[in-house]
Amino acid sequence: MNDPLVYLNGSLTPLSEAKIPVLDRGFIFGDGVYEVIPVYGRKMFRADQHLARLFRSLASIGIPNPHDKAGWLALIAQVMDAHPADDQMVYLQVTRGVAKRAHAFPQEMVPTVFIMTNPIVLPSDEVRAKGVVCVSMEDKRWLRCEIKSISLLGNVLAAQNAAEQGATESIQFRDGLLTEASASNVWIVKDGVLAAPPKDNLILEGIRYGLIEDLCAANGIPLQARKITREEVFAADEVLLSSATKEVLAVVKLDEQTIGNGAPGPIYQKLYAAYQLSKAA
Ligand SMILES: Cc1ncc(COP(=O)(O)O)c(C=O)c1O
Repeated sequence: MNDPLVYLNGSLTPLSEAKIPVLDRGFIFGDGVYEVIPVYGRKMFRADQHLARLFRSLASIGIPNPHDKAGWLALIAQVMDAHPADDQMVYLQVTRGVAKRAHAFPQEMVPTVFIMTNPIVLPSDEVRAKGVVCVSMEDKRWLRCEIKSISLLGNVLAAQNAAEQGATESIQFRDGLLTEASASNVWIVKDGVLAAPPKDNLILEGIRYGLIEDLCAANGIPLQARKITREEVFAADEVLLSSATKEVLAVVKLDEQTIGNGAPGPIYQKLYAAYQLSKAA
C-alpha cells in the first residue's frame, strides 16, 4: 500500500496529501513527542503501556493531552483498520502546534496530532539465528532521555555511526556506564542473571523494559536494574537489545569483541520464546 490513510488533526487523508504548516513547532524546534506501537493480528500490543508513556511524555513537556485514552484508542483504530496488513507498526506524534517562531511556549496552543501505520518489519529468521553486530560510542545526548521526544538528533547521529560501520546499533556509554542503544534498550547476562541500567533520565524506558520484567518474573529469570560498566558489557555472557521492532535480539559482537561464544545465548532464547507467547496471548 503506497499511499495509506493517515490521521492528521481531525481527518483521515492519504499520506501523500497530509500537510502541516512550516511554522509547526515540531518542524521548527523538534518540539513534540511520539510513540511507536506494534500491532499483531490487528491488535495493539501493550497499548495501555504505550499510551501511559505518551501521557507521561506530554505532561513532562507541558503539551496538553488532546485526547483521553478512549479517544486515542479510537483514532488509532481508525488508521489501523484502514490498513490491509494484519501486523503493523503505528507511529503517532504530537507537537506543540503552529505559532510565530519564538522558543518559549506560545500563549495559545493547539497541538498537532499525526498518526500513521506501516506493515511491521521484524528481524529475519536468519538475523535472529546469527545475532547482530553493534559498535560502542560515548552517549552525547541530552539529560532528558526518559522523554520520547521527536528531537532525535543524538539518536540519529548514533544510528548513523552504526550504519557507517555496518553495525545494527550503537551501544552508548556515559562516563563509563551503559545507557542504551540508538533506538533500543540494552541488557546484559552474566552467570544466568539478566541486568539493565536503572530506569532514570539517562534512558528511555522502553515498553519492552516492562515486558521483560514481567517475562523474567514469570519464567524465573533473575533480573537486576543497576548501573553497568563498560567492562561488564564487553565481558558479558550475552548482550541483548529490545525495542518494538527488534522485540529482543542477541548481540554477538561489540566493536572487535566477540560476546560470549559468539552465538545467541540461552537467556535470549528463553526471552524470545516467552515474548512470542505473550504476543499470541
Ligand atoms: C532510545 C530508545 N530507547 C529504547 C527504545 C525501546 O523502546 P520500546 O521498547 O518502547 O520500543 C527505543 C525505541 O525506539 C528508543 O528509541
